[in-house]
Amino acid sequence: MKRAAFQCERDRFAKLRAVDGSGIGADYDDVRLIQEICKSLLVSDEKLRELMDLMLLSMEEGLAKETASTAAVKMLPSYVRSVPNGTESGHFLALDLGGTNFRVLLITLEGKKADMVSKIYRIPDSLMKGTGQVLFDHIADCLAKFMVEHDLSGKPKLPLGFTFSFPCRQEGLTCARLINWTKGFSAAGVEGKDVVTLLREACQRRKDVDIDVVAVLNDTTGTLMACAHKENTCQVGVIVGTGTNACYVEKISRCGKLDGEMDPNDGPDEVIINTEWGAFGDDGRMDSVRTEFDRNVDANSINPGKQIFEKMISGMYMGELVRVVLEHLTKEGLLFEGSTSTALFRRGAFPTKYVSEIESDLHEEDRTFQNTFNILEDLGLERITPTDCANVAYVCSLVSARAAHLCAAGIAVLLNRMQKPMVTVGVDGSVYRFHPTFKQLLDQKIDQLVDRGLEFQLMLSEDGSGKGAALVAAVACRVEQERVQRLLAQQKISNSS
Ligand code: GLC
Repeated sequence: MKRAAFQCERDRFAKLRAVDGSGIGADYDDVRLIQEICKSLLVSDEKLRELMDLMLLSMEEGLAKETASTAAVKMLPSYVRSVPNGTESGHFLALDLGGTNFRVLLITLEGKKADMVSKIYRIPDSLMKGTGQVLFDHIADCLAKFMVEHDLSGKPKLPLGFTFSFPCRQEGLTCARLINWTKGFSAAGVEGKDVVTLLREACQRRKDVDIDVVAVLNDTTGTLMACAHKENTCQVGVIVGTGTNACYVEKISRCGKLDGEMDPNDGPDEVIINTEWGAFGDDGRMDSVRTEFDRNVDANSINPGKQIFEKMISGMYMGELVRVVLEHLTKEGLLFEGSTSTALFRRGAFPTKYVSEIESDLHEEDRTFQNTFNILEDLGLERITPTDCANVAYVCSLVSARAAHLCAAGIAVLLNRMQKPMVTVGVDGSVYRFHPTFKQLLDQKIDQLVDRGLEFQLMLSEDGSGKGAALVAAVACRVEQERVQRLLAQQKISNSS
């Protein structure tokens, strides 16, 4: 339907809705069929609670010595044991690699204040999927350019925090071995390697950048730290962006696999654990809620069978999931009068930002579905009726509500495990930031799932990957200075006795 005809039909639709009050008017049978097909996307509270039990089990397996190596949820220690105390200060460099963009930042911390200048560099698809050497050379190149632009070359080295947002087995604060790539990356020769060494080697190859990496961290850890800098009850960091993941503060004594590796008496007896919850279900534990649409998205992804929880929630997959449902409904003759568009049937043609834009139409008073119509028209669809727009928005809302509810279940598992009376959950990521109702849905569902008596609040974490990296670097510098001072004091005592 063309724009003018659409507008005319839209008025008819509005009248129909006013008459029968259903909002669906004459196309009631089709709508019923659509609802029937989409029923599998609904996850009841009972089911969510079942999933919570399974997720807790998976997390416990990830922490226990005997099961850690085979557990789907890896529960990776970050070696970050102290959150900021507000005295962190100085200039820091931060690198942030975790999606299609790479960022370099120069951060100045002063008490609770953080000033930042940053530059974004694109990582072309060919680099994400090429060789590790080329990828790290590109990173070193961006860093070198940034340092020239900000007059940092040839000056004393600044401490650098490297936010590398992929699952890594850390062997300390400055050594992180990539376990496996996620989120569309597959650069060869990086899995199993320490990414800090790869970065240092890339800098050495070009000779004009000299760096001092003092910390490598996951974006969830950065999010937790950035939030804790403002609000000291922050104990959980969550990302719902291209990927999804969470970290939280855990007692060292409850991490069986750390037995003997981290002394609870040497410093705080807690450590931030990067759960890597995106891989929950890789062992089949999510099978009872996965739909044919989820299986389709997974089977056609770069890593089939991997990151099952992530593929039901995060921005890299949400739009594609909606597209697969729409493709199915179109083929069933339930949308666009059965007419097809090659674009709608093409993988990746429906980015997640469309889901947010379309759902924002549901919150317009007059429900004109203008965004929805424009998007569908851009996709090359021709016979778009107002009912189609309402149905497309309905599919989007089912997929995004399910994502928010699954994510809420994950957060509730962590809050119930920690049993701390009041916890702030720092959250960041494009889905959380830009989707019109994700925040509210998340908040309401956690409230229903969390143990009685436990309080929580969600807090948007401002730029965890940048500021958080500087904070981890700053805390690392502070802890190191304190250690040196302790040693010097001890020496002084032994010299004088
Ligand atoms: C993916 C990565 C994880 C990261 C998350 C959010 O799940 O494996 O490390 O934290 O995306 O960026």
